[in-house]
Amino acid sequence: MTATAPLVRRRAARRTSVALKVVMATTGVLFLLFVLAHMYGNLKVFSGQEAFDGYAHHLRVLGDPVLPYSGFLWILRIVLIVAVVSHVWAAARLWRRANHARSTPYTTFRPVQATWSSRTMRWGGLTILLFVIFHLLQFTTVTIEVGGSFDSPYERLVAAFSVWYIVVVYALAMLALGMHLRHGIWSSVQTLGWSTRQHEPAIKRTALAIAAIIVVGFLLPPFAILFGMVS
Ligand code: HEM
Repeated sequence: MTATAPLVRRRAARRTSVALKVVMATTGVLFLLFVLAHMYGNLKVFSGQEAFDGYAHHLRVLGDPVLPYSGFLWILRIVLIVAVVSHVWAAARLWRRANHARSTPYTTFRPVQATWSSRTMRWGGLTILLFVIFHLLQFTTVTIEVGGSFDSPYERLVAAFSVWYIVVVYALAMLALGMHLRHGIWSSVQTLGWSTRQHEPAIKRTALAIAAIIVVGFLLPPFAILFGMVS
């Protein structure tokens, strides 16, 4: 073996890590766009039943006659499923690599902050994944019906968020989402090479602002319903 072999191996390992982080960042940006659009769509509940149900119907006939009924939704679903699988796969690989690297103990440097945030990202990510499964069973497959059985998406939403513990579940999930997004946005900007030391504080503030807008935007309908402002 030549003396340069470990160096070559280290370089290849670094390239793989960067590639995995790029997968995480690009799929993360896709999720961000999706949650922003979804949050905006949910706010239609404030325009009344006709507007909200009309919007749900519109999503299903989008692209007609080129696409079949629900064709657009199915394309979106497939893109999201591929993105979730890639995001989780890349996270698991990065995780394994980090643990493997850490079997050699630190001597002078212990990145406490990085360890804490990566642990938060891991548990936060798992919480969001479990939430999405529950959420799909509730509003997409309608397997879990809370507050009654309704054909109208608006009535389903109002019935569900009239139940206080469902609002609590969603509030906790949105908090997890907010924390995950705040760190995720910041990491993506770094990974994609758009960050400089000079812009770091501004990027962190922007990430916090975007995460806060998403949490508040998502939680407005459930709380408005719970407090009888939407019925
Ligand atoms: C308070 C927060 C939320 C509310 C009130 C809400 C509400 C809804 C409703 C009513 C639907 C059914 C739409 C329809 O069938 O027309 C839906 C679908 C969906 N939601 Fe949410 N949502 C929330 C948060 C989220 C979050 C945070 C995510 C992802 C991280 C998410 C992901 C999805 C997905 C993937 C679908 C399925 C779209 C489809 O395939 O039909 N939702 N949501």
